[in-house]
Amino acid sequence: MIIKSLDHLKLISKKIAENISKNDCIYLVGEIGVGKTTITRILINYLQKREGVKKTEVLSPTFNLLHEYDIKKFKIMHYDLYRIKNIKELNQLGIFNENINLIKIIEWPQLIETNVDDVLELHLSYSSNVNERNLTFKGKGKWRDFNLDEL
Ligand SMILES: Nc1ncnc2c1ncn2[C@@H]1O[C@H](COP(=O)(O)OP(=O)(O)OP(=O)(O)O)[C@@H](O)[C@H]1O
Ligand SMILES: [Mg+2]
Repeated sequence: MIIKSLDHLKLISKKIAENISKNDCIYLVGEIGVGKTTITRILINYLQKREGVKKTEVLSPTFNLLHEYDIKKFKIMHYDLYRIKNIKELNQLGIFNENINLIKIIEWPQLIETNVDDVLELHLSYSSNVNERNLTFKGKGKWRDFNLDEL
C-alpha cells in the first residue's frame, strides 16, 4: 500500500498500536530516513496516552542501540540495530533473553535469526513523491491476519 502522508502514517501506526500487546515484536525494515523511527514515535506516544503515562520524547536509539519506555503494564524496548555488524554482536545484546511483559520494536532487524511467535514485519520504501512511502507488511502468529485495508 501507499502511505500518502504523515497523517496517513498516524492512522496506520495507531491501528498497529491498538493491536499490540505484551510479547509482541515489530520489525521495521527500510532505508535510512524512510520513517522507521517516526512510526515508532507515534506508536509509543499513542500507548503512553492510552495507558495514562506521561508522553515522552521518542528519539532514535542510533547510538545507544536501545531506548526503554515504561508503560505501566509493559515495557517497550526500541532497538536500532543499524550499527550491529554480526551475529556475535547481536547475541551480546540479549534481545530475546527475556520476553515477559515486553514489546520489542526493532529497526534494522535483518541480522535476527531468532524465531519469534508474534511478529509484524513492516517494509518501508521511498516513493517518487517526497511525502509518500510504500509499505508492505507480513505478520506471523497473532499478526497473521492483520490488515490495513480500510485505511
Ligand atoms: N509518509 C511518510 N512516512 C514516514 N515518514 C515521512 C513521510 N513523509 C515524510 N516523512 C519524514 O521522513 C523522515 C523519516 O525519518 P525517520 O527518522 O523516521 O527515519 P528512519 O527510517 O528511522 O531512519 P534511520 O534508518 O536513520 O533510523 C521524517 O523526517 C518524517 O517526517
Ligand atoms: Mg530510525
